Amino acid sequence: MITLTTVRELRAAVSQARREGKRIGLVPTMGNLHAGHAALVERAARHADFVVASVFVNPLQFGPHEDLDKYPRSLAADQQRLTEAGCHLLFHPGVEDMYPDGMDGQTRVSVPLVSEGLCGGSRPGHFEGVATVVSKLFNMVQPDLAVFGEKDFQQLAVIRKLVRDLNMPIEIIGGPTVRAEDGLALSSRNGYLDQAQRSAAPALYRVLQGLAADLRGGRRDYPGLIAEGLLHLSQAGFRTDYLEIREATSLRPAAVDDRDLVILAAAYMGPTRLIDNLALSLPQSL
Ligand code: PAF
Repeated sequence: MITLTTVRELRAAVSQARREGKRIGLVPTMGNLHAGHAALVERAARHADFVVASVFVNPLQFGPHEDLDKYPRSLAADQQRLTEAGCHLLFHPGVEDMYPDGMDGQTRVSVPLVSEGLCGGSRPGHFEGVATVVSKLFNMVQPDLAVFGEKDFQQLAVIRKLVRDLNMPIEIIGGPTVRAEDGLALSSRNGYLDQAQRSAAPALYRVLQGLAADLRGGRRDYPGLIAEGLLHLSQAGFRTDYLEIREATSLRPAAVDDRDLVILAAAYMGPTRLIDNLALSLPQSL
C-alpha cells in the first residue's frame, strides 16, 4: 500500500489504476481505525480492483465544542490495518491540502431533509461538513463505488441522497455495523470510555433490541415505546441525546403503517457521545 498526501499525487495514481482497467473503490475515514473500518475496506476490495482509503480528521464537520483536537490520530497503526484489509492506496492529506484557501470561504454542500433532526439536530453544520468533504473526496478520486458504515445510519442516508441529487455516478455501499461480543458497536470514540463506562455502554444496543422486539411483537405506540427506552437508558447510566423511531429510507418520523423502520439513538456515557441504530423490516401482516 502506498501513502500519498497531495491531491496531485492521488489523481496520478488513481488515473494509472484506471488506465489499467481497474474498478476504483473508496473508503473515507477519519482514522483511528478498528475492525469495523477493516470490514469496510474488505467489502470495498470485494467490489473493486483498486481500493483507496482516506484518513482525514475533517475540521469542517466538528462543532466548536466538539472533540476535534482530542480526536485520536494513529497513522502507523492505521497503515498496518489498511494494508492487512487489502487497501492499495492511503490518501492522508493535511488540512491545507483539503482546504487550500481556508475553510471560511469553502463552497459547501448541504443535503436537506435527511440531514435534519437526529445528529443533524444536535450537531448543527455537521452533515454539511460531511457532505462537503465527501463531495471533495469523490471529485478527487472519482471512484466507481464508495463504502460507508451503517453505524452512521443518518450519514449513509445523507450520502445516498447527495449522489442521487447531484447525479454522481458512484455506487454507495453500506457496511454492516461491527460489534464487540457484548453488543457495543465499534467506534473510535469507545476509547474515551473508562472501565465502568465501557461495561455499562452495551445497554445502548440492548435498549434498541428491546424496542425492536416490541415492534416485531406488534406494538405501534411509538411515544410509549420511546418513553420506556429512555427510562432504560437512564437506568443504565446514559444521558440520552435522542432516541427515535423513523422510516428507514426517508428518515421521516415513522407512521403506524410503515414497515421499514430504524430505531436510532445518541446518548452520552459520561462525556462520551455514542450512537447506534437498529433497522428492521416488519411483515405486512403485522
Ligand atoms: O464517518 C466518518 O468517519 C466521516 O464522517 C467521513 C465520512 C470520513 C467524512 O469525514
